[in-house]
Amino acid sequence: MLGPQIRQLALQFAAALAVLSLAWPYYGIRNEELPWPQTAFAIGGIAALFATISRQPWWWRLMHALFAPLAWSVSRLAIDPGWFLLLFVLLLLVYRGALTGQVPLYFSNRPSAAAIAKLTADRHDLRFLDLGAGIGSVLIPLASERPEAHFSGVENAPATWLIGRLRSAGLANCDWRWGDIWQTDLSGHNVVYAFLSPAPMAALWEKVQKEMPPGSLFVSNSFPVPGVAATRIIDVDDARQTRLYCYRI
Ligand SMILES: C[S@@+](CC[C@H](N)C(=O)[O-])C[C@H]1O[C@@H](n2cnc3c(N)ncnc32)[C@H](O)[C@@H]1O
Repeated sequence: MLGPQIRQLALQFAAALAVLSLAWPYYGIRNEELPWPQTAFAIGGIAALFATISRQPWWWRLMHALFAPLAWSVSRLAIDPGWFLLLFVLLLLVYRGALTGQVPLYFSNRPSAAAIAKLTADRHDLRFLDLGAGIGSVLIPLASERPEAHFSGVENAPATWLIGRLRSAGLANCDWRWGDIWQTDLSGHNVVYAFLSPAPMAALWEKVQKEMPPGSLFVSNSFPVPGVAATRIIDVDDARQTRLYCYRI
């Protein structure tokens, strides 16, 4: 099956192909130059139509409508293509998870970290894992507060991994790993925390059920497991009204 990003790219290509396969012969026969602004808007219109027919959410329809006109406008600025490559590489260093698994980068806030600290306070043998640990917004305050407990974080975006590595360098009880969530064994942890997106939750729940030991706790910030009732929901007292969905295994 095609990944969602490849499907959207294919849709955009199909729209460009549909417009260009009519426009090129039409203007070619008349010996006229292709009018690029109109062509770009036509591609945008057809892409939006394809996105509507294939029932894409509204933000994808908008992005499809704007992509070709914006690409044409930016091409008029005659910027060296090397800058785009550089920008792409820099974004990949930070937002790798968004490209590969529909998980963007945003951080747990202090009230959420405090709520997790409270939730885990009575676990004396705490072995805590943050799946997609970002820059350690949860792991580092918790590991500093509980020197006797063990904390692990797994992160696969190079820039965030490096920042987290530096921030956790002085914490002997914090194991900061470069790795992939899906290759990480959950069996050695009795609290697993995730703040990801709705996209991976069903597959992650299967992994959690297979690997986490009985009596352990899975906590998802903001994104519930679809179709599974949480054992407990914690409403964090913060501006964005964070909810922590807790599942006892
Ligand atoms: C929304 S952020 C949460 C960061 C951190 N847990 C927090 O609460 O502040 C999700 C993180 O997961 C990482 N991520 C996404 N997919 C991943 C994967 N397959 N393996 C490891 N990390 C991943 C992203 O790079 C990002 O840093």
